[in-house]
Formats: sequence, structure tokens, C-alpha cells
Amino acid sequence: MNGLMNTLVMSHLGHNRLSTAFPTSQPQETDLILATYPKSGTTWLKALIFAIVTRTTYPLTENPLLFNSPHELVPFLEFGLYHNNPSPDLEGIPKPRIFSTHMPYTALPTSIFDSKCRVVYICRNPWDQLVSFWHFSTSAAKRWSTEYSISLDETLDMFCRGVISFGPFWDHVLGYWKASQGMPNKVLFLKYEDLKEDIMGQTKLLAQFLGFPFSVEEEGGGVVEEVSRLCSFENLKELEVNKTGKLSSGRDKSAFFRKAEVGDWSNYLTPPMAEKMKKLIQEKFEGSGLMFKMP
Ligand code: A3P
Repeated sequence: MNGLMNTLVMSHLGHNRLSTAFPTSQPQETDLILATYPKSGTTWLKALIFAIVTRTTYPLTENPLLFNSPHELVPFLEFGLYHNNPSPDLEGIPKPRIFSTHMPYTALPTSIFDSKCRVVYICRNPWDQLVSFWHFSTSAAKRWSTEYSISLDETLDMFCRGVISFGPFWDHVLGYWKASQGMPNKVLFLKYEDLKEDIMGQTKLLAQFLGFPFSVEEEGGGVVEEVSRLCSFENLKELEVNKTGKLSSGRDKSAFFRKAEVGDWSNYLTPPMAEKMKKLIQEKFEGSGLMFKMP
């Protein structure tokens, strides 16, 4: 059974906690864990977190983000780190270590909650997430020349049945949402659309939560703008390192940069398709205090 399938099955079989993450070492209290549902802004947030915590280690004009994919600098616990090595040296990674994961909240190892490490989650409105996911799946199929190709209709059907990588969208989002409500110092819940609307405010909020707040001098000196600009879609997409080559997973690095627009779903989903999702989302999120409006 491949990793993705395993994850799917896990998330449907009572959300067993992930026992393979941190198998050779425990989380450190300075660790930062970025959790996302696929295609919700992982690449963006990897870049932002990396730039925020390393801004005093390297001048922003020489930041490793200019020469490495955000996915190489912030590896996935369940893919990159263990891809070719069942026991990677996690102790050797400089502090604060930044990891990412697509695992549902209930599948995170309990050691994360026994430690003081922090978790940041970013979610995206489900209409754009779905369309982005569909593009990502079909572009990969074309590049790998596999027979696997899927229509948007089929993708929507899988979404609505919750039979999709990393489990149902609503379980994933609500898991982290509820955790952020109960443990606001442990889990920060962000929205892709909020970052699009106010990147400066959200970058400051993120830095504060991570324990790397911007000083008054930095704010006055334009450092928040510089960090935001470095991590912007327009900048990252045009970097040579993100235009060519593959990640260890075999994915083209360029596949993580498409349009980055809010509301692009309306170019793909028909009104009945969008309405079907709306009904489902209303039903699943009702009473949670979290709602998605169709942008
Ligand atoms: P689109 O397919 O809508 O363009 P993930 O990083 O979780 O895989 O999500 C990928 C989505 O985020 C893609 O959305 C991609 O274009 C967008 N994206 C990648 N880098 C971004 C950035 N720096 N700022 C905003 N959006 C970004």
C-alpha cells in the first residue's frame, strides 16, 4: 500500500495517530510544525515561516529561499524527510526546526502535544482548493505520462464523499480549527484569503505567534514588506530554482505555482457544482464558528 493510500485509510479508520513521524527523535520545544490540507497555501506559508525565522541569520537578499524550493527548506514529515531514508538525522537540523505535514490533526503524534512546539495551520476556501487540487493532479498525470487522469466532476465527487488524500476536507479543517480555539498559544489558524487581503498584518501575526516578532526598528525599516515580497507568488514563481527541476518526491518544482488567485474556481466549476459544495460545506461547518463564503 503506498503512503498516500495508507494515509487515506488511516484517516478513515478512526484517525490513528501517526507513529512514524519523529521515530528517531522527539519534537523539540522550539520546533515549528506547519499543517495544511493539500493545495491550501503550503508553499507560501513554508516560505513565510522560513523567511521570518531566518531573517537575522541571512540578509534577506541572500536568503536560501532564493536558491532552494520552499519544499526543500521545510520538508514534509511524511514525504520528503523519509522518502529515501527511513531514519533521517532530525537532530542535525538547525533550530528552530521547521517541518510540515498534511496529516489530519487527530493523526499527529501525541509527542507534539506533550512538547511546547508550535503548530501553524492554513486553510483555503474549498472551491479554490478543489480546483487547485484538480490542476495539480492532472498536471502530474500528464508529466508522468500515467494513465491516471481525473475529470473535475470526478474530483468533486471524491471531495463530497470525503474519499480524497488526507481525508475529508471538513474533518481536516475542523480538527485544527477546534484545536486553535482550545489552545490558541499552541495552534495558530490562518486563512489563505486573509493573507491575500492583508499580507503585512498576517506576516506580523505569524511572526508574533512563532516567537520571532518584528521589532519597532524592523517595522520602521521595511523588513515586514521585504519578507512579504520575498515570499510572494510573483517573486517565488519567477526564481530559477522554482521554475526547473524536481523535488525528491518526483514532483516538478514548478507545479506548486499556478495562478494563486482567490475565486479562480468560477472559471471551472459550473453553478450547480459550486452550489453542491456550498450546501455540503454549510452542513459540515454549521455551529463550528467557522464559515466559508464563496469568494
Ligand atoms: P492555484 O493552483 O490556485 O494557483 P500548496 O502550496 O498548498 O500546494 O498550494 C498551491 C496553491 O498555492 C496554488 O494555487 C499555488 O499557485 C499557490 N501558491 C504557491 N505559492 C504561493 C505564494 N507564494 N503566494 C500565494 N499563493 C501561492
